[in-house]
Amino acid sequence: MIYLDNAATSWPKPESVYQTMDEFLRTKGGNPGRGSHSLAVAAREVVEETRMLVARLINAEENERVIFTLNCTDALNMGLKGMLKPGDHVITSCIGHNSLFRPLKKLEQQGVRVTRLSPHSREGFVSPDDIEKAITQQTKLVVMTHASNVTGVIQPIEEYGEITRHHNIIFMVDAAQTAGRHPIDVQSDNVDLLAFSGHKGLLGPPGTGVLYIGERVDLDTLREGGTSSYSELEEQPLDLPYRYESGTVNSLGISGLGAGVKYIFNEGLERIHTHERYLTDMLIEGLFHIRRIALYTAKNGAKQAPVISFNVEGYEPGEVGAILDQSFDIKARAGLHCAPAAHRTLGTYPLGTVRLSPGYFNTVQDINLTLDSVEKIVEATIHKFVSKKKLKIHSDHPVKITVESNLSIPNFDLNERDVETQSGTLGALLGELSNKHELTEAEFFDSEQGNLYSDYAVYVNGWSYKNIADGLGTPLKEGDKVGIYLNILPAGG
Ligand SMILES: Cc1ncc(COP(=O)(O)O)c(C=O)c1O
Repeated sequence: MIYLDNAATSWPKPESVYQTMDEFLRTKGGNPGRGSHSLAVAAREVVEETRMLVARLINAEENERVIFTLNCTDALNMGLKGMLKPGDHVITSCIGHNSLFRPLKKLEQQGVRVTRLSPHSREGFVSPDDIEKAITQQTKLVVMTHASNVTGVIQPIEEYGEITRHHNIIFMVDAAQTAGRHPIDVQSDNVDLLAFSGHKGLLGPPGTGVLYIGERVDLDTLREGGTSSYSELEEQPLDLPYRYESGTVNSLGISGLGAGVKYIFNEGLERIHTHERYLTDMLIEGLFHIRRIALYTAKNGAKQAPVISFNVEGYEPGEVGAILDQSFDIKARAGLHCAPAAHRTLGTYPLGTVRLSPGYFNTVQDINLTLDSVEKIVEATIHKFVSKKKLKIHSDHPVKITVESNLSIPNFDLNERDVETQSGTLGALLGELSNKHELTEAEFFDSEQGNLYSDYAVYVNGWSYKNIADGLGTPLKEGDKVGIYLNILPAGG
């Protein structure tokens, strides 16, 4: 199995993450900060150690500025809704994730004014000048996505940070796709709010995320409740991190997150970054040389996170994703990736793209096998409608037959089409269609060589011919409905 969906969540996790979580739950499972018995203290130490490690990773001024959240979505909601009030103005881009778009949409409905900047290049870069031009007296926040989860294009946050600092505006970054995989320094990049997942690049478990809150920010709380200190106060304490961490934190997840970040420090962020970048470059280079592929990435590898998108001509992204999974055991994601606006910008809406996102545990062999598999799929499209058999046309009069298919060959999408044919039989019709479209080779119907397709089905008026040879002689008449479906596309790599 090859896992290439690290942009959704990283997998596998380092062995130490599994072990730490197992040990935590067995031996340190008290409630951190609630009580002074040894299990509660042990749990608290683990939580605070993780806080320190995460703070170090992003160069936060103080550990307390790292707030544990459920995921990146939670962190984005806390930042946006804690900051923006009706009448405020916020600037963002069109390439973000729904986790950023939807809270902004809700705030917009409540009276916050939102400017959504379009990228100034086809790759999807948002110009710092455009940000500066959009700033008004009411602008309270600029919020940008560090790397697109569709194309992996990395935005120049250090340039945005300079502008926002200059105009005394709060700068928030969605670093879901970069934290733990790409160096981020909140101080030198002038980032005031940094939201990220713990379960992606930081190699922690699901249910973990972080919001870094910088010194310039005073966020309102979205939740109030029990904190691990100041029990005597009636109101929510103002101190960080307690102000924003009401209720029992996900201490088990945080223990795993700590192990993930330790692993990153032990391996070295630079090494992880270099390996992932090497694999990503390999993917881009390899896909670039396969014909009939549209590739959506940055042109410059230095501006590319380990996330890339592509489409294969003649296939829907969902089909390619399913073939990669079912026939080649490659886990890729297909569709809109929760970022419809990014696809509108790319011109890939509404079907989306196929996304490959390698991680530190992928190998060069994984990438080579993936490229081979994509090449096979592309070749299969070219041979999708192919017959070697020379078939005779029996009928003297042309008849109209509806052909329905999940095959879509270039310039000839068969999905529900009326075909005028002189063919007297199903076999002849197939041959006629093949010849018409200059598809002359044998793979599709030839079971001897038929390693391109492991399963297909042919129907005439709803009757299925599982074995195509049995159906070839079936006579056709005016108004018949023929269905040609590939069920499991190319037999695997
Ligand atoms: C750019 C971006 N932002 C936010 C999120 C949401 O992350 P989470 O699933 O941790 O809430 C994702 C997840 O894929 C993402 O790619």
